[in-house]
Amino acid sequence: MSEKVYPVSGDWAKRAWVDQAKYQAMYADSVKDPASFWGEQGKRIDWIKPYTKVKDVSYAPGAVSIKWFEDGQTNVALNCVDRHLATRGDQTAIIWEGDDPNESKLITYRQLHEEVCRFANVLKAHGVKKGDRVTIYLPMIPEAAYAMLACARVGAIHSIVFGGFSPDSLASRIEDAASAVVITADEGLRGGRKVPLKANVDAAADKVDCLKTVLVVRRTGGSIAMKEGRDVWYDEAAAKASTDCPVEPMNAEDPLFLLYTSGSTGKPKGVVHTTGGYLVYAAMTHQYVFDYHYGDVYWCTADVGWVTGHSYIVYGPLANGATTLMFEGIPTYPSISRFWDVVDKHKVNIFYTAPTAIRSLMAAGEEPVKKTSRASLRLLGSVGEPINPEAWEWYYRVVGDNRCPIVDTWWQTETGGILISPLPGATAQKPGSATLPFFGVQPQVVDAEGKVLEGPCEGNLVIADSWPGQMRTVYGDHQRFMETYFATYPNKYFTGDGCRRDADGYYWITGRVDDVINVSGHRMGTAEVESALVAHPKVSEAAVVGYPHDIKGQGIYAYVTLMTGEEPTEALRKELVTWVRKEIGPIASPDLIQFAPGLPKTRSGKIMRRILRKIAEDEFGSLGDTSTLADPGVVNDLIDNRQNKR
Ligand code: WT7
Repeated sequence: MSEKVYPVSGDWAKRAWVDQAKYQAMYADSVKDPASFWGEQGKRIDWIKPYTKVKDVSYAPGAVSIKWFEDGQTNVALNCVDRHLATRGDQTAIIWEGDDPNESKLITYRQLHEEVCRFANVLKAHGVKKGDRVTIYLPMIPEAAYAMLACARVGAIHSIVFGGFSPDSLASRIEDAASAVVITADEGLRGGRKVPLKANVDAAADKVDCLKTVLVVRRTGGSIAMKEGRDVWYDEAAAKASTDCPVEPMNAEDPLFLLYTSGSTGKPKGVVHTTGGYLVYAAMTHQYVFDYHYGDVYWCTADVGWVTGHSYIVYGPLANGATTLMFEGIPTYPSISRFWDVVDKHKVNIFYTAPTAIRSLMAAGEEPVKKTSRASLRLLGSVGEPINPEAWEWYYRVVGDNRCPIVDTWWQTETGGILISPLPGATAQKPGSATLPFFGVQPQVVDAEGKVLEGPCEGNLVIADSWPGQMRTVYGDHQRFMETYFATYPNKYFTGDGCRRDADGYYWITGRVDDVINVSGHRMGTAEVESALVAHPKVSEAAVVGYPHDIKGQGIYAYVTLMTGEEPTEALRKELVTWVRKEIGPIASPDLIQFAPGLPKTRSGKIMRRILRKIAEDEFGSLGDTSTLADPGVVNDLIDNRQNKR
């Protein structure tokens, strides 16, 4: 791994909110007396009723309970919209850049206020009340932000489902949340291609009982079916709605949103984030990690279907009165220069994207970047998976012209906001390292037995104490929450990631240590892909593992055993890929499928994934002990027939 160090420049140390001395002093305070530190930080948002209690947390086995600012009342829409009207009503809140480069729009805080109130009144008119769950299945259009903030305004809990998920995946999320209302669009538009969102909702609706109303935003004007009594055109409902809507006072611990994410077992779980602590944490990390100053134009390229879009397109930036850019399209349309064209068009200062995007653009060479100016850029960010030092260097040199620090931000859906990252005015960067903890965050590295390791070491990453943005529970299943995150290492939050700590105390995340794989920065449970495969009538057994992929970080490698008598043909291979896309969505498409007459199993019938992982990784030399296998012979067959041999 690269040990090159990029020191903080004198200019950065001077202009940034936080320099090295301030980081060290504030960090020490934050862990010495969390209640007093966060008691102060809580004031960065407006409260309807001020809190008197700051932190009430127990990580005790069987009794995990996490509360921040618990007796305070506030409202997220009040903080992200209303409180800016007096000071910056005419400032742009959202810059929307369409899929088509000729389509863009600026939305001021005043307009945002009107749109959110109107949307909130439409929700109310359709029976949505405080505590109700509303599922949002929208493309990257301003209405996605309006819908989120409208839910927050009336106290409803939103559950956004990424537009790339299949009708089945959508249905199981609607069902789990028991949503009576879904907000969607006629169609989405990405890279010039249409995404049949409303048709997907129709297919999902057939599988659930709870759904009563579908609000349909007109995006493309494509022809779709509308079901009498259930489906409502949003624009028609909005035309009748008032732009006056008071905010619902919310307790700090009332849920703000659910977001489904994959784990190592079973179906995706609904991660619950609440109101006060989440917003304080999202706003504070957005200000300090991106060193946001008023007037800066900030662009995070994520989709609102992922947590990055929640915390760092909508909630963090808007709570800070920022100008946030929302992009409907993809990095390669209409040309591979699109990101940099958008940077020049809107004079973007802060740019936050994923390593997979960097690697795919890197593959097209420097010219498409170099022909653009990018003079407005000041800071670059990375998120979603470890960034390999080669991609880091390219991002720094080619995109940032050797002048923009890179913040490599490590966090998770569960953490609500960034936990480990450089601060650009404070932290020297090492390519490939997420560097140091944010204020209040206490990472530890433990060995398999849970022993806390000191100094330079390698092991599993845990967090020793709570921070305000932490998830509170799994929706409807607190037991699963405690088992997933707090049972492996009692009294600590287990991240599921492996990591190394170097002599400077820098953290280097090495990737998941559970059965979760990270494909292009998207989390996928191997068990989910396996259950989709075995649902196919010709498949008898399947085992899925990750393998190193040049662009995606990890690819999906599936070992498939067919029913007796079925032929392992190329056509069937294609059919299985299409099948998984239909069952889960395109992000779950297997990259490689190997037909295997047998899988390596122990005598008790347990599949030895360790061996399958090694074969997929091309590491035949280090298969480890295979003597406990019921039939050691299957391993040779698997090696001989490995797909995509290098
Ligand atoms: C997993 C969380 C954080 C929002 C997007 C993904 C990996 C994330 C980094 C990083 C190394 C990273 C981890 C983590 N990850 N950021 N900067 N360096 N790994 O959220 O879908 O909940 O996935 O993504 O493995 O556990 P998510």
